[in-house]
Amino acid sequence: MGINNQNITITKSTTTKINEVDFNNLSFGENFTDHMFECDYIDGKWTNAQVRPYGPISLDPSAKVFHYGQAIFEGMKAYKSVDGAVWLFRPEENLIRLNKSAIRLAIPEFPKDLFFDGMEILLNIDKEWIQTSEGSSMYIRPFIIATEEGVSASPAKRYKFMFILSPAQSYYSGEVKVLFADKYSRSASGGVGFAKCAGNYAGQFYPTKLANDAGYQQVVWTDSSTHENLEEAGTMNVFFRIGDTLITAPTSDRILDGITRKSVIAIAEKEGYKVEVRDISVYEVEDAAKNGTLLEMFGAGTAAVINPIVSFNFKGNDYNLPKLEDSYASSIKKKITDIQTGKVEDPFGWKYAVRSI
Ligand code: COI
Repeated sequence: MGINNQNITITKSTTTKINEVDFNNLSFGENFTDHMFECDYIDGKWTNAQVRPYGPISLDPSAKVFHYGQAIFEGMKAYKSVDGAVWLFRPEENLIRLNKSAIRLAIPEFPKDLFFDGMEILLNIDKEWIQTSEGSSMYIRPFIIATEEGVSASPAKRYKFMFILSPAQSYYSGEVKVLFADKYSRSASGGVGFAKCAGNYAGQFYPTKLANDAGYQQVVWTDSSTHENLEEAGTMNVFFRIGDTLITAPTSDRILDGITRKSVIAIAEKEGYKVEVRDISVYEVEDAAKNGTLLEMFGAGTAAVINPIVSFNFKGNDYNLPKLEDSYASSIKKKITDIQTGKVEDPFGWKYAVRSI
């Protein structure tokens, strides 16, 4: 099967930055590979698909992305084995979610063949950059921005889709103390919380900065109408372990349908853990913390996979979580990363082998 059925133009860089990168000391999202993929939406169709040397793009200052935030993105990871095979983790899920985000932001959907051909050609060209050492992966950032010039507040007629690649190591953000939101909100019913749109993240920066200034690393977002139901942690979905039960909020139009979230649920169920997908209130968690049954809290997302939370603050009171030897978080994280990195068989069919060119 040809990988380039979409007539993607390829222009290779004559130089490489690979020797400038210290792959043992990577900061998340700060280094990019030698090439990028781009494709433009013009006159009602996606066209001009190309892989070319990584570098700045030129946009008119009136481009709608700058004024109205018509921008969506995804986060994915590729892995490479010592024998050179490259694979992705549940990539169709990212495409499905990208297109759900696109519909909500009035952006044209991106075609599946172009998505896979473009990504796989790019990964082949920058394959050297995918490291095989423990914890290494290639973070893939697909995104779409509105490029049409003009400041009228209406959906653009022209867009740019891109893939950029950033080598990543296992993500450790230190001890995470969180603050339960009781004033600010990440999303609201009927809004765009389920979409991976740029504004959802920009809107978190200020309340998160306030939390950081108060000594907390992340905010756990609550529902905007009552601030009683716990919905997401920072840029991740959030899980609670009360006794032996793992609990997470159901997805809704306020909550991102996280791919790591659904992988955590699938693994936990396969392991025989009791999993409840239901609303979980701040009071239930506070009571469980007080009576000692709150054993774990963790965030789940592509970048960190699972990020354990050591304490939370609710209405001015701090509650510490116990330090467990054999936490669900570490056991589930190991199971997911072992599948992702190919250490164990993948019983779920989540791995997608990248075609070679
Ligand atoms: C994720 O981990 O899923 C993210 O979206 C993180 C990204 C915003 C850096």
